[in-house]
Amino acid sequence: MMDGGRQDAGTRVRGGVHSAERHDSAHKHVTGAAEYIDDMVEPVGTLHAYLGLSEAAHAEIASMDLAAVRSAPGVVDVLTAADIPAVNDVSPVHAHDDPVFAEKKVMFWGQPVFAVIAESRLQARHAAALARIEYRPLDAAIDIEAAIAAGSELVTKPLKLERGFVDKALADAPHRIAGSMEIGGQDHFYLEGHIAFAIPGEDETVTIHSSTQHPSEAQNLVSEVLGVAANAVSVQVRRMGGGFGGKESQPALFAAVAALAAKRLNRPVKIRPDRDDDMIATGKRHDFKVAYDVGFDDEGRILGVEGTYAARCGFSADLSGPVTDRALFHADNAYYFPHVRLKSMPLRTNTVSNTAFRGFGGPQGVLGAERIVEEIAYALGKDPLEIRKANFYGPPGRDVTPYHQTVTDSILDRLVGELEESSDYQARRSAILDFNKKGGVIRKGIALTPVKFGISFTATWFNQAGALLHVYRDGSIHLNHGGTEMGQGLFTKVAQVVADCFQVDLDRIRVSATSTEKVPNTSATAASSGSDLNGMAAQDAAEQIKQRLMEFASEKWSVSAEEVTFGPGGVCVGSKTVPFDTLIAEAYMARVHLSAAGFYKTPDIHWDREAGKGRPFYYFAYGAAVSEVSIDTLTGEYRIERTDILHDVGKSLNPAIDKGQVEGGFVQGVGWLTTEELWWDDKGRLRTHAPSTYKIPLASDRPRIFNVALAEWSENKERTIRRSKAVGEPPLMLGISVLEAISMAVASVADYRECPRLDTPATPERVLMAVERLRAHGGAEA
Ligand code: MTE
Ligand code: MOS
Repeated sequence: MMDGGRQDAGTRVRGGVHSAERHDSAHKHVTGAAEYIDDMVEPVGTLHAYLGLSEAAHAEIASMDLAAVRSAPGVVDVLTAADIPAVNDVSPVHAHDDPVFAEKKVMFWGQPVFAVIAESRLQARHAAALARIEYRPLDAAIDIEAAIAAGSELVTKPLKLERGFVDKALADAPHRIAGSMEIGGQDHFYLEGHIAFAIPGEDETVTIHSSTQHPSEAQNLVSEVLGVAANAVSVQVRRMGGGFGGKESQPALFAAVAALAAKRLNRPVKIRPDRDDDMIATGKRHDFKVAYDVGFDDEGRILGVEGTYAARCGFSADLSGPVTDRALFHADNAYYFPHVRLKSMPLRTNTVSNTAFRGFGGPQGVLGAERIVEEIAYALGKDPLEIRKANFYGPPGRDVTPYHQTVTDSILDRLVGELEESSDYQARRSAILDFNKKGGVIRKGIALTPVKFGISFTATWFNQAGALLHVYRDGSIHLNHGGTEMGQGLFTKVAQVVADCFQVDLDRIRVSATSTEKVPNTSATAASSGSDLNGMAAQDAAEQIKQRLMEFASEKWSVSAEEVTFGPGGVCVGSKTVPFDTLIAEAYMARVHLSAAGFYKTPDIHWDREAGKGRPFYYFAYGAAVSEVSIDTLTGEYRIERTDILHDVGKSLNPAIDKGQVEGGFVQGVGWLTTEELWWDDKGRLRTHAPSTYKIPLASDRPRIFNVALAEWSENKERTIRRSKAVGEPPLMLGISVLEAISMAVASVADYRECPRLDTPATPERVLMAVERLRAHGGAEA
């Protein structure tokens, strides 16, 4: 029965769905064997590009003298806007506001103005610094306040969501609070920065290795810049060293510069900015200012909410439209707002163009909702958890979102209940209240915060995916799909789906680099939908081949098609078992087609943006976290003592990888809300552009006790791939539990009479200022 020992006679295949397989590259990541673009062997004659960046936030270019750049050692060419063969634009939304090189005007400090191409990267970098550009300054709006004051235009049409009669609800409410919150941005801080490597081919063709989450978009935008058909441009990506949304739209610029130079000089060209330039010249998470007005009753039940969500979008539209839309979609987080009006304000500013970042504006919306809950809790003198529970989406009558989608799958009552128990929340909270009563320098706080996150691209057409599957004569399987691997384990999960379909071991399947030549017209690997979409497309391809094999086997061995089943020990054909390899070898000889293209599109979703109504999300993913912190009221320093998480991934495709996503997402969320601070000076220069001035969490910042569990009983009610749920983004918002625990510790200095209203990031400096402010407001030391 066994064939060459490749197949296990056991009852389960090695590496099918729902099993905790390691990431396919885990061992290669840690040993350095995983190949990133900068590790690729460079063909002879490879050149290196470097960008020249603007040194004005908003200005006309009065003159540009690049003579010294051109004559610097090793320099082969210098490119400016005048050298672009077709379109000087890489706007992902075709807003024509994202030039590859600034032309007459610069729109932010750090905007690419030219590129220098040299024999070595160091030569290119040195030469780029020799440009002499004179600017005629124009008025610049750097931040949200300035943009509002200057009456800046919006980068895209704002969104409004409305339901019920909010003015009346607010006017009639027994309690009403208005306030605002500033929410900081975040740099992606992927370990591998932006990079593109273009290799010119025959005729108009060019192959680009790009660190991109969106190969098809890079392909399209580069073809437009070069003025060639999309079929001349091939984009490949084996893996990224992290993307986190920062490589959804922004890689196109680097791909375009590399491709442009490669075609012009007919030599391979690589471009990799250093960390400082990567941080200065590419977009980040949007910072927001959320203004809210909430009405509620004595029990803390929300009656009406009005909110405005102003965002610093930077100089161009990029993805700011969908990002600010998603902030509104999550402005309710997990809570029912009976009457509601929400408006986005995507402001154009003279800063780098902000872009996608894990959660895509959703986290900023969720944070606003959690601030509202905190306000209500402090106003009524209750535990915020009580307010949360009183406002969760519930039965009909309390189940419609501000965008008129009905929430039918909420599991938060159970999930939060279980976490409250397992983390011993109530007893620990009482102990903390007692501890703080002693009035020491160290204060403690604890908070349980939930997350509900909508899964699907709100641009409905993106919810499609393709896969290409080959079974070779020897029974080995080659899998390719439109999703990209950025460390999140997508390749492993999709391979598990295929292994399960054929009931073969995972190591029989090789996943190859994402390539626009293998699967066309793909969507970005984003919105956490990678495994939902590509898993289904790969399953479709596998099922097609399986169907052909079943028909072949039933004919060859004269059994009915139902008597052919794929099992872990081989393929059962009637009473005999045929090893998978044997079946494939026979099928090949009989000229059975052993390759298939799979396709999937998410059903049942629709969205009418004008009306603000629809079902933009196929389903919701849920989770909750309890964090306990200590703060030092003399310095503002804090540490996370313990975090307990219970997260919902439906029926997990791979519990090991999903847990990794939950841990990583949480930590990244904590960094966003506590230590990661972006700071621009009044000239519009980003002054936090390296790890020396921008602090991401370290291993030593992790919770001292960290208990992470998946809600194993959960199963997606929708027919997603093996009833799993998306996991990439939602856990980021679990970091809010840390912010709110810090807030409680701060509030203790004024006996919890006042909501501390911490803006984020809640750096030690901000925490200390909040402590001082509360004390000044007459916080009687208990
Ligand atoms: N995990 C790692 N290790 N690296 C990343 O860059 N990106 C996140 C998340 N998890 C990211 C990650 C973001 S922003 C998204 S949208 C999802 O992964 C994308 O992958 P998925 O759709 O396959 O979950
Ligand atoms: Mo993730 S922000 O959707 O790439």
